[in-house]
Amino acid sequence: MTTTTPASAAVRAAVGTAHTRVEGRDKVTGAARYAGEIPFAGLAHGWLVLSTITRGRVREVRTAPVLRMPGVLAVLHHGNAPRLRTDYVGLLGVPPDPAACVFQDDRVPFAGWPVALVVAEAPEQAREAAEALAVTYEQEPHDTALVAGHPGAYAPQGHMPAETAKGDLEAELAASAVVVAEEYTTPEEQHSMMEPHAATALWDGGRLEVVDSNQGAGWVRDELATLFSLDPSAVRVRSEHIGGGFGSKGPRAHQVCAVMATTALHRPVRVVLTRRQLFSLAGYRSPTTQRVRLGAGPDGRLRALEHRSLNQTSRVYEFVEPSAGVARVMYDAAAHRTANHVVRLDVPSPTWMRAPGEAPGSFAIEAALDELAERAGVDPIELRVRNEPQAGPVSGLPFSSRNLVACFREGARRFGWADRDPRPGLRRDGRWLLGTGTAAASFGAGAAPSTALVTAEADGTFTVRIAAADIGTGARTALTLIAADALRTTPERVRVRIGDSDFGQAMIAGGSMGTRSWAWAVTAAAAELLERLALGTGVPPEGVTVRSDTTEALAALAQKERHSFGAQFAEVAVDTATGEVRVRRMLGIFAAGRIVNPLTARNQLVGGMTWGISMALHEEAVRDHRTGAHYAPDLAGYHVATHADVPDIEADWVDDHDPDDPVGIKGIGEVGIVGAAAAVANAVWHATGVRHRDLPIRPDRII
Ligand code: MOS
Repeated sequence: MTTTTPASAAVRAAVGTAHTRVEGRDKVTGAARYAGEIPFAGLAHGWLVLSTITRGRVREVRTAPVLRMPGVLAVLHHGNAPRLRTDYVGLLGVPPDPAACVFQDDRVPFAGWPVALVVAEAPEQAREAAEALAVTYEQEPHDTALVAGHPGAYAPQGHMPAETAKGDLEAELAASAVVVAEEYTTPEEQHSMMEPHAATALWDGGRLEVVDSNQGAGWVRDELATLFSLDPSAVRVRSEHIGGGFGSKGPRAHQVCAVMATTALHRPVRVVLTRRQLFSLAGYRSPTTQRVRLGAGPDGRLRALEHRSLNQTSRVYEFVEPSAGVARVMYDAAAHRTANHVVRLDVPSPTWMRAPGEAPGSFAIEAALDELAERAGVDPIELRVRNEPQAGPVSGLPFSSRNLVACFREGARRFGWADRDPRPGLRRDGRWLLGTGTAAASFGAGAAPSTALVTAEADGTFTVRIAAADIGTGARTALTLIAADALRTTPERVRVRIGDSDFGQAMIAGGSMGTRSWAWAVTAAAAELLERLALGTGVPPEGVTVRSDTTEALAALAQKERHSFGAQFAEVAVDTATGEVRVRRMLGIFAAGRIVNPLTARNQLVGGMTWGISMALHEEAVRDHRTGAHYAPDLAGYHVATHADVPDIEADWVDDHDPDDPVGIKGIGEVGIVGAAAAVANAVWHATGVRHRDLPIRPDRII
């Protein structure tokens, strides 16, 4: 036995200091393996075949010719696939998306729906056979167009109220000195993560093992176990490295296909989605049409606020993009009304995408506020300061902390806002018109129950095991710093292992809640471990392990409004001859709780802001409503910001601290994109004097 010396209290705090990614070297040298590239002996490859019609039924899948092609092992489709259990509500409170529950019947509810999987010895053989597979259909008429006031729109039932209302809206609007009443639209947007979805499944000693790229190994494990009626302990999901997720990487068709095929063929099977397949199978951000009505006194103080949003969902799955939710947090008024409505169309199922709700919702409300500032003759920052609520406008709950004004003050100072002439269309730089804009940001700061295992090893180091996911955020590194402080040791003595469902259930990497939820569990286990070690019995060769569960500790969080906040600033140049908009500089100042690792936190925030530029100016998945399918569903047709589009961009933060969190964390995953598109759009108005209420602000819309 060796003994562990309790580290002295003088150990420098790791949280708050810049630390490069602990797996960074593995990533840049290629040693870090991703789900689609981990080798397995006897690996077979599945290739999905997607519907070429938008609505109807599969009449026939002509498998015989394809089964004679080189290397082809099997063709799975609705006529021969095993039945799944699909009548359940999963860990995250939602039923499975039928697009993931493949081959259960002959219906085709949207273009790009999975109709078959071809499995072959080599991926090239599987692909060739998949492309040769003849599928015939009975086709039905479709409707894929989201339009404001669609007759099929309805208020969805669910845990989040579709509508909130207080006060007499029409009376307050009628009594307002200044009124803004406008429609805003945002297009369908795609996650466009670097690494497409990929899974390999195999049976190993009576256990199903799935190596996958996902945002929660335990989540995918639970869903697969339920779908295939297996005991959760008989399923293990691993996802060590993930090349981006942004909300799209949960249980999806690729894992289910891989499990079906490995069960049928008794050998490991890998299914990798292509970039084009992601456009219908990986979820996306629904387009929105939003209506905002604001009424204010001459001083800009709001008397009336209405924010209504409509998004589309598929015929088979209800997904609500809660864009009007942001108004429930940001601004109060005597008359206050919000509504998130949805309409079922013959389109793929949308899903969470970075800042679901807040990203499109903040574009509408923050652009409308800029219009109100203009009409009231009040500076846009001063307008927001005057409209700071004392409590949650809908909930009435106090804010745990709300440092939005501090963000605006610091941002205004650093951006040089004080010198700004509010009049539009006045500044020129050669052929460019110049303008600046600002917008507020917020995103919910929650936490969800998680378990962690923390082990004191006999050699004096520590091992942390938690089913966390590092989807590129730096979560593994953040947890290393958190564990080091909680264990009163240095990061070098802590090894953090994540991405394995065998470590117990933990929050997914989502909702800006991952790092905070996991940190809570790690901190709790570490504290108990130190107590155990202080008893002085020493550490046996197998180490001493403590397991935490934060379910009870989190109950108190519901008593307050908890959000991260931010202030976004953008300067743009607009070429009115070509319609080109260039963002020249961007600054975001955030109040997002205690920052664990300044290096990766800045990364996250700048990444979100960059996406905001992209949302404002480039991104748009365009559907051909005659066929119901996308035009150019790939990264040539779907434009995302590239290096040339990303200017001088900086993110920083003010002191903020969640008083009820053991580390003070709030969450930074999503707040960076919120308000960013509005800041750019508001700057375009300041440059040109023209309001653009439809995203993206393409050159043809400028001219
Ligand atoms: Mo995020 S949209 O919660 O992965």
